[in-house]
Amino acid sequence: MSRILLGVSGGIAAYKALELVRLATAAGHSVRVVQTPASRRFVGEASFAALTGAPVLVSEFERDPARGAFPGQEPPPREPLSHLQLVANADLYVIAPASANTIAKLAAGIADNLLGSCALAARCPVVVAPAMNNHMYEHPATTANLQTLRERGVEVVEPDSGRLASEGEQGIGRLPDPARLLAICEQLLVGDGPVAVAGKSSSSPSHRGDWQGLRVLVTAGGTREPIDSVRFLGNSSSGRMGVALAGAARARGATVTLVAANVALERPDGVACRDVVTAAELQATCEDEFPDCDVLLMAAAVADFTVAAPAQGKIKKADRELLELHLQPTADVLTGLAAARRDGQTLVGFAAEHGRGAVDDAREKLVAKGLDAIVVNDISRPDIGFDVDANEVTILTAGGERSEVQRWDVPRAPKAQVADAILDVVARLRESRASG
Ligand code: CTP
Repeated sequence: MSRILLGVSGGIAAYKALELVRLATAAGHSVRVVQTPASRRFVGEASFAALTGAPVLVSEFERDPARGAFPGQEPPPREPLSHLQLVANADLYVIAPASANTIAKLAAGIADNLLGSCALAARCPVVVAPAMNNHMYEHPATTANLQTLRERGVEVVEPDSGRLASEGEQGIGRLPDPARLLAICEQLLVGDGPVAVAGKSSSSPSHRGDWQGLRVLVTAGGTREPIDSVRFLGNSSSGRMGVALAGAARARGATVTLVAANVALERPDGVACRDVVTAAELQATCEDEFPDCDVLLMAAAVADFTVAAPAQGKIKKADRELLELHLQPTADVLTGLAAARRDGQTLVGFAAEHGRGAVDDAREKLVAKGLDAIVVNDISRPDIGFDVDANEVTILTAGGERSEVQRWDVPRAPKAQVADAILDVVARLRESRASG
């Protein structure tokens, strides 16, 4: 079980933080609480102290009777600095509720209270759960501050919508149900079940070199099927996710080959690139590279249909009134590769699905294509996915018997971090297969 540091800032929702502590301690986690001075107007230290069984701190100048230790831990012999020791001992720092004022200070790096100095000193994953009036939440200042935090790898939990504290007010800004908050925290705690951590950077020292000797094949971008000598049928994939995956795998020391379908982005250093245009070219290149790879990350958007008889020159509009294109299906490259797999290879597919049912559709593809994992993102959302530098994905992994599917949610983060979280899941999958 883990050590969770909870930062409580001033807002009506502070009362829900009590329930969060109750659930977390009941689940076996040891919890310490730091409060902002304003939060004490809503809930006093005594309540948190009673539930955690540990002193609650408000000021960095206050003596900590527990010397930064969490319940169950031996306090150090010498008196440490509270804000450093508390976060040094914590596996996760969750700030809930986070008021607009606290979020602004966190974004600016202001450390004028213990909650803020703990945030600056934290090396563990940090979760921020905003709770406030909907107008304050939707104010451009708050939106920009939350974006800054996300870009720094902080996990920002989207508030719920509904009735707000002030009479008659409805909208977004409610602190999520404490049980859901705890579930999110548990997902972020490394080693606590099916977890993907998006807060770590791809250059995290723990990753450097640990994929040495591993051969990784990545496909990226979107294929183009010619209609005539200048036109084609294409798709919106820019290749960002695949390029991020190739870079992240290379940063771990893997030997990486990138099959790039019409990717205009800079290629990561140290990665061998093979450029392709059409689905058929991508298929031929993948079939050539696949036997030598240990991990296949199939992030490319491959055309499902190609023009049956592309015109040789340029089709002139004067030539006809109605232009009919006859399309014929392409081969499913991934299914073909999965059928030819050898032991020890890990195959990961990517599914861009639209709206509700995205995860269920991806689950079907995981099984139908014979994959080890599938990464699904919801393309109905404009803030993630195609040609955007952020993504939020769900990863489904097939169990040993392929009957039991595990689910890993990677919160919205820059694609480089999402790539790293995907590689974490691949690493776990390979470890569990190797040991099982
Ligand atoms: N894929 C492939 N060959 C194709 C189509 C898709 O290898 N002709 C791969 C993609 O690279 C991706 C995975 O299959 O990793 C899922 O792609 P997706 O387009 O979501 O699946 P489809 O099987 O094409 O299903 P849909 O009908 O939803 O497009």
